[in-house]
Amino acid sequence: MAKNVIVTGASRGIGFELVQKYAEAGHEVLALSRNSDRLEQLKQACLQLNPKAQVHILSFDLAKGDIAAQLMPFIESCFQHVDILINNAGALVAKPFTEISAEELERIYHVNVLSVFKLTQELIPKFSNNAHIVNISSVGGVQGSVKFSGLSAYSSS
Ligand SMILES: NC(=O)c1ccc[n+]([C@@H]2O[C@H](COP(=O)([O-])OP(=O)(O)OC[C@H]3O[C@@H](n4cnc5c(N)ncnc54)[C@H](OP(=O)(O)O)[C@@H]3O)[C@@H](O)[C@H]2O)c1
Repeated sequence: MAKNVIVTGASRGIGFELVQKYAEAGHEVLALSRNSDRLEQLKQACLQLNPKAQVHILSFDLAKGDIAAQLMPFIESCFQHVDILINNAGALVAKPFTEISAEELERIYHVNVLSVFKLTQELIPKFSNNAHIVNISSVGGVQGSVKFSGLSAYSSS
């Protein structure tokens, strides 16, 4: 049965590939990230794979946008319920610990932690009974910054 799927961080990398896989398999997908040109390319790529693909794209900044006031109305205009939420968007700054600014730290934590919490919270009433929430993290979150020097903000988030 076709599922309603939300993928954050869809403009490139893992998210870009995931959206194509879901669209090709006939699921309806909402793809979100900041880069609207890449999202449009993604939509076209999905239509090449499946001419009936249903892909909604939204340029949205998870570090700055208001999830309740701006993102939720768009989600509600696409889906009556959500079956799969993939919190894939990730932000990274690679700098020595002492050089990471407050703004950088805030942006990393907004994208990697706070928006994941907030979006999941907002979607609770919208999830179907057997819904899945997939939070994509990093091995850096397990190993800390020993192996990944310069990634203290990324790995801790
Ligand atoms: N690739 C790896 O080896 C690896 C390893 C461990 C963990 N991961 C994790 O896996 C996930 C995907 O990795 P990836 O390598 O595919 O990442 P990527 O190529 O760097 O893509 C990150 C995605 O997140 C989006 N994003 C970043 N900041 C955003 C913001 N403020 N608002 C909305 N979207 C934002 C980017 O889109 P825009 O720039 O268009 O906004 C992009 O689509 C991330 O969470 C990453 O931490 C990846």
